[in-house]
Amino acid sequence: MTIPIKNKDGIVRMREACAIAATVLEQLKPLVRPGVTTQDLEEAGRDWIARLGARSACYGYQHGSRRYPAHTCISVNDEVVHGIPSFRRVLREGDIVSLDIVVWFEGYVGDNAFTVPVGPVAEPVEKLLRVSRAALDLGIRQAQVGNRIGDISSAIQQYVEANGFSVVREMVGHGVGVSMHEPPEIPNFGRRGTGDRIKPGMTLAIEPMVNAGSCKTKTLSDGWTVVAADGFPSAHFEHTVLTTDRGPEILTVPRPVRASTQNST
Ligand code: MF3
Ligand code: CO
Repeated sequence: MTIPIKNKDGIVRMREACAIAATVLEQLKPLVRPGVTTQDLEEAGRDWIARLGARSACYGYQHGSRRYPAHTCISVNDEVVHGIPSFRRVLREGDIVSLDIVVWFEGYVGDNAFTVPVGPVAEPVEKLLRVSRAALDLGIRQAQVGNRIGDISSAIQQYVEANGFSVVREMVGHGVGVSMHEPPEIPNFGRRGTGDRIKPGMTLAIEPMVNAGSCKTKTLSDGWTVVAADGFPSAHFEHTVLTTDRGPEILTVPRPVRASTQNST
């Protein structure tokens, strides 16, 4: 499968979709505090997506015979990705929360995620967040025209493992554009100099999923929530990136939101 190259118009639309996805994520960050439920975050996310004129790409997303039942993915502590928001899940100080926002806007998809602490967290967990965030940056830095996809994968894996953590194998980064998942797959593990060559105009969702313990995962009986098999915490950072002759450009950058819009419902 060849990797789609976006033309000028596609890039304009990708920019819009990605800016919206990033703005939603940014708006959710200050809501993350002790006592809040993941359903509260879901509702705020759902409302921001609508307010910015987009649609959730997660809601109704089909995997096998199941459809994802929420507008956001919210994964707490040992949950890696695809946590289903719930009014029963109350955040406590010391938790970490991964928020994953994927939106449709005018036929294009923007995808991004980050993990935030709920109040102060233990130092090893703090380190997990630092390392995972930095692994994303190192991966993005490899998204240079002329490099190969494996250069991204390898940079992420090397850094994560050098810091004593592990990268999840079952889920991978991906191309993103007119659908949520396009070629190529972008594993968070692999070897330099392998995989497809990077060309200008690719839009790539680079997304290290990093476990504090073993890389093994399992899926809960809800059919969606992926958790670390050993119960140790897991972090997830993701940006959608455009490849250009001038280097990688992060598209999932939030836009300022007018204060008047901020409080209206
Ligand atoms: N960013 C996630 C992914 O690429 C979003 C999945 S939406 C869901 O897999 F519906 F599958 F949860
Ligand atoms: Co993704």
